[in-house]
This record gives sequence, structure tokens and C-alpha cells, in this order.
Amino acid sequence: MTTITIMPSGKTIEAAEGISILAALLENDPEFPHKCNGNAKCGSCHIFVQEGRKGVSRVTREENEKLDTIVGVGSKSRLACQATVLGTEDIRIEILGFASGF
Ligand code: FES
Repeated sequence: MTTITIMPSGKTIEAAEGISILAALLENDPEFPHKCNGNAKCGSCHIFVQEGRKGVSRVTREENEKLDTIVGVGSKSRLACQATVLGTEDIRIEILGFASGF
């Protein structure tokens, strides 16, 4: 299991290897934004991976193309629906404060 620390609240959740960060978030907060149901089409699941980036899958071309359309994207940006937990190291993410109950 990988521990995901969610900033700014500092809450931690556990994620099994092979699932998306979005899936891990939804297990703990079904209201977390995911308007396109994880198809890299909406951008509502945008997060920043602050630490442990080697512990998540690489950015795919499809994800990169969607990120290019989102305002406020940085070098640590990911779509939670496309970033898969590899299980090699713990992860610290930052979510937009208004995005959910975390
Ligand atoms: S849920 Fe739509 S891009 Fe991730």
C-alpha cells in the first residue's frame, strides 16, 4: 500500500498499487471532482504531485494534451484519473481547496 498525503489538509489515505490517484481519492470522498469519469477529457481532477513523483505512472500524451488546456497548470500537475499509483514510494499531492471535502 502507498500512503497519499493530501495537502493542504494533511489528511492521509492508503492506495493499492495499480489504481489511479482518482480512484483512491474517490474511495475516501465520492464527491471528488471527476466530471468525465476518468477519461482525461474534463480536467476537473487536476492535482499537483508535490512529492513522490517516481511513485506514479508517467504522463501519457493524452493526459499531456488535456493538461495543456487547463489554466494554472505547472510542472507538478497531473490528472488524478491518469496518474496510477506504482507502489514504489509514498506520495504527497495538493488539491485545489474548493475541490472536495479533503
Ligand atoms: S476525471 Fe476528467 S480528466 Fe480526470
